[in-house]
Amino acid sequence: PFPLYAQLRERSPLLHEPRADLWLLFDYDSVKRALQDHEVFSSVVTTVTGRTPDWLLFSDPPRHTKLRGIIMRAFTPRSIANLEPHVRELSRGLLAPLVGRGEMDVVAEYSSQLPTTVIAEMIGIPVEDRARFLQWGDIIMKLSHTISEGEEAERARAENAAMRDEMRVYLSAILEERRREPRDDLLTRLVEAEVDGERLDEKEILGFFQLLLAAGTETTTDLIDNALLCFLEYPDQLERLRRQPELLGSAIEEVLRFRSPAQSMYRSTKREVELNGRVIPAGKFVLPMIGSANRDPGHFEEPERFDIGREPNPHLAFGHGIHFCLGAALSRMEARVALTDLLEALGDFQLASDTPWEPRQALHLHGPKRLPLRFEPRV
Ligand code: HEM
Repeated sequence: PFPLYAQLRERSPLLHEPRADLWLLFDYDSVKRALQDHEVFSSVVTTVTGRTPDWLLFSDPPRHTKLRGIIMRAFTPRSIANLEPHVRELSRGLLAPLVGRGEMDVVAEYSSQLPTTVIAEMIGIPVEDRARFLQWGDIIMKLSHTISEGEEAERARAENAAMRDEMRVYLSAILEERRREPRDDLLTRLVEAEVDGERLDEKEILGFFQLLLAAGTETTTDLIDNALLCFLEYPDQLERLRRQPELLGSAIEEVLRFRSPAQSMYRSTKREVELNGRVIPAGKFVLPMIGSANRDPGHFEEPERFDIGREPNPHLAFGHGIHFCLGAALSRMEARVALTDLLEALGDFQLASDTPWEPRQALHLHGPKRLPLRFEPRV
């Protein structure tokens, strides 16, 4: 989409798509404004389910502030730093059986496994239920990737409704266990949390559960895969990183900018607003295009160049303002661990197929469906 973004940013940074009555924002300043100005740009939007999920992500203050407060502590940089040794162990465990083979599909065998296991453990899902958890994540994401009309959307909606019932029953049982026997996990925190003096009901807890499942898995998978794509495309930058491993943190920020896992977010206008000399009426669906903002030449020097030493790098890949990604520290840490281990394990690596890599069918997420790599097998 990147050349298209550049054209649109130049010609028409604010585009009205009349069929779906969507307003797309392509320039950095408008995207940042829409992400942070919750007085005008509400996060309460109707999704393809035809409803507004009862999720933190889709709420405005004052409710948003209270919901975010409940789980915030689990995601502070300190809590995340405490998790790091364990994430390293998980990562090495996943790679150990693969390195001798000389070939693997990174997506299926590594990058989708690591974030899912980590978030499942944080939530408190028993190990034996992980496969089911992964499947639910797929279904939620499939729905969010589906455009709101047509047969495919109908199917995704039906699948989603069935899954919600299954999840409700599953959660109910597990929450009962936590009430009897609290543990150090997010489910216990949700069971014990109060908003305005009242406990959350199971529907609200289910909302958190779905949000963490949806937000905490595929995005981080994409970040890891997109980093490898960037290195395949820019081998000089990979060499530079091998020479200067201290650039890893800044390399990850550059991947976030250059191939942002979340290419867009959603808002709806609470009132009429003027942007870039155009007026968006009240009650309209707005898409701030993060992936385009992150390549706006007004804010990034030579934006089409992948530069692991870029400084400053004020990308909007994790959003901006009160909805700033709660999982930012977690996914940065997972990406650091994953890339350290992968770059060591893979040595020299190439795409293992002759066909170009294929993007996932995703409305607003950006990453490969499969990433088959060939590398030097290790004994
Ligand atoms: C919010 C991106 C990983 C949990 C957001 C937002 C973005 C984003 C752009 C802002 C949404 C908005 O303004 O409407 C990403 C990217 C990730 C990532 C690119 C990985 C590279 C994670 C992880 C978790 C997570 C690992 C948790 C386990 C959340 C939550 C919110 C959020 C709960 C909602 C915060 C709120 O509404 O206050 N994320 N995310 N994300 N993210 Fe992430």
